[in-house]
Amino acid sequence: MTVSVFVGASVDGFIARRDGGLDWLPAGGGEPHGYDEFIASVDAIVIGRKTFETVLGFGGAWPYGRKRVVVLSSRPVDLSAVVGGVVEQMGGSPEEIVAGLAASGARHLYVDGGETIQRFLRAGLVDRLVITRVPVLIGEGIPLFGSLPHDVRLRHVATRAFPSGLVQSEYEVLSA
Ligand SMILES: NC(=O)c1ccc[n+]([C@@H]2O[C@H](COP(=O)([O-])OP(=O)(O)OC[C@H]3O[C@@H](n4cnc5c(N)ncnc54)[C@H](OP(=O)(O)O)[C@@H]3O)[C@@H](O)[C@H]2O)c1
Repeated sequence: MTVSVFVGASVDGFIARRDGGLDWLPAGGGEPHGYDEFIASVDAIVIGRKTFETVLGFGGAWPYGRKRVVVLSSRPVDLSAVVGGVVEQMGGSPEEIVAGLAASGARHLYVDGGETIQRFLRAGLVDRLVITRVPVLIGEGIPLFGSLPHDVRLRHVATRAFPSGLVQSEYEVLSA
């Protein structure tokens, strides 16, 4: 199993404003920076309940198409608003979630949502980080990273700069 993170962050390290606002992200996701290719490579998208609610709040079409989406929560989540998608709910430790998805045949997971990413990192279950820095400081917000039981060593794989100012760095997680 490979677990990847593919996330956009402000240069000061936030993935959303405190109230969840994403107005500082480039409109329409910005210039192409590999998201479509990345999504095509994953078997399942594992998102935290708050990210799920944010996506529903956009009000448009379900953005993940027919890709398998797993919403994580410790309580029942109403999935009925998802039209045309393949969505299920799971809970438990990151280890249990990865084991469950591996048993059902998934080989590449995309984990998304700040708290969710942090839980998987703390559990030592993230293999790859792709972080796209948006050239803005927003001062405060929901942080991408948080406390860790110990250092997590990374190997820098590549950094790409895009004309719009997006700077994307990929890291392999060496130890967790
Ligand atoms: N910039 C970007 O690329 C990007 C990407 C993703 C999200 N976002 C933004 O980030 C914000 C959401 O992030 P967030 O850090 O607030 O929350 P989040 O990670 O989306 O969701 C956290 C919730 O997920 C559930 N959860 C996570 N791991 C779990 C586990 N192992 N077992 C059971 N439940 C688990 C819990 O739900 P319960 O409380 O229901 O138990 C927890 O409260 C939104 O504003 C979203 O738009 C930005």
